[in-house]
Amino acid sequence: MKTSLNPNAKDAATRDALVAEGGFGKYYTDHMVVCEWSEKDGWSEPELKPYGPISLDPATAVFHYGQEIFEGMKAYRQPDGGIGLFRPQANAQRFARSAKRLALPEMPESLFLETVETLVRQDAGWVPNKVGESLYIRPFMFATEVGLGVRPSNKALYMLIATPAGAYFDPSKAVSVWISTEYVRAALGGTGEAKCGGNYAASLIAQKAAAAQGCDQVVWIDAIERKWIEEMGGMNLYFIKGSGADATVMTPKLTGTLLPGITRDSILSVAVDLGYKVEETMISVDDWRDGVASGLITEIFACGTAAVVSPVGQAKSAMGTWITGDGQPGKITMQIRNALLGIQHGEIADTHKWMHAVI
Ligand code: PLP
Ligand code: COI
Repeated sequence: MKTSLNPNAKDAATRDALVAEGGFGKYYTDHMVVCEWSEKDGWSEPELKPYGPISLDPATAVFHYGQEIFEGMKAYRQPDGGIGLFRPQANAQRFARSAKRLALPEMPESLFLETVETLVRQDAGWVPNKVGESLYIRPFMFATEVGLGVRPSNKALYMLIATPAGAYFDPSKAVSVWISTEYVRAALGGTGEAKCGGNYAASLIAQKAAAAQGCDQVVWIDAIERKWIEEMGGMNLYFIKGSGADATVMTPKLTGTLLPGITRDSILSVAVDLGYKVEETMISVDDWRDGVASGLITEIFACGTAAVVSPVGQAKSAMGTWITGDGQPGKITMQIRNALLGIQHGEIADTHKWMHAVI
């Protein structure tokens, strides 16, 4: 990899103070990686260089037609001081699937991993030390052909940046959700399974509507029957039926319109490890409301790379308002969260071989 180091890299004391501030996406590490692609020459040699602005022609395709994809993954400090990435191959594979859907070039998994490992090694000092904290890594790629013709771009730019992520989780507060019947996130044949910027752009108005209802997040239901629960904002959802050792941990089935979350997939295994039954199934708004009323549904949480696991409390919708559990994070929710974080931080045996050591 071509390398030009940042002459203005933060000194250790300044960097540590920024990392200690926590938050999410507030500060970026000293370096980034860029890699160009063209139809003619394929992938260029990637370059590690100082983090900084880029310059693009105003007629660059991405500004007009939104041909863009991204990923989100994390590096965790290990007990021996090393650093481990959580399932980076899964992110590489999803990035390639998103690229295919957006008519962008599919980056080889080995090249993707090389860029991530190189950046994390270079900026290792930015990986926090505390449990619940991590370095959030954001690979993205966009169309760079200049011109206003609507066609798949013959040039693309891949970039990789990283930001220290503090502990997101406020255990004293479950997230409240607005079930949107007005807006749709995804329909079959659309881009719901891809991690493309356009999905998020189209979701923001629903997020605003949720806030206007006093809710923290929006819950999406399916586009056709308008009753099946799909996702919450930028996270997948889990419903817990029953309690104690007999509980079943359920999540909406991947129907082609949900983003196949890597956290979601991991929790299917973690829940089995903890002795629970798991189900990938169709869950309707009625199942949710009636299950809460009858006591069948005991806990709900959302999951994703950024927040890992977030308890869901109040649900509000055109069909009524109800609260799952007592508004506090449920027992099984916390057990799953701690088990997953334990694996990510190297404190619990990694029986699924999910961790990928970088240092
Ligand atoms: N669903 C959506 C729409 C997302 O944006 C994300 C976040 O990346 C997820 C689910 C969770 O996916 P993952 O667990 O791979 O981060
Ligand atoms: C997640 O990782 O859970 C997300 O929601 C990603 C988001 C920051 C786009």
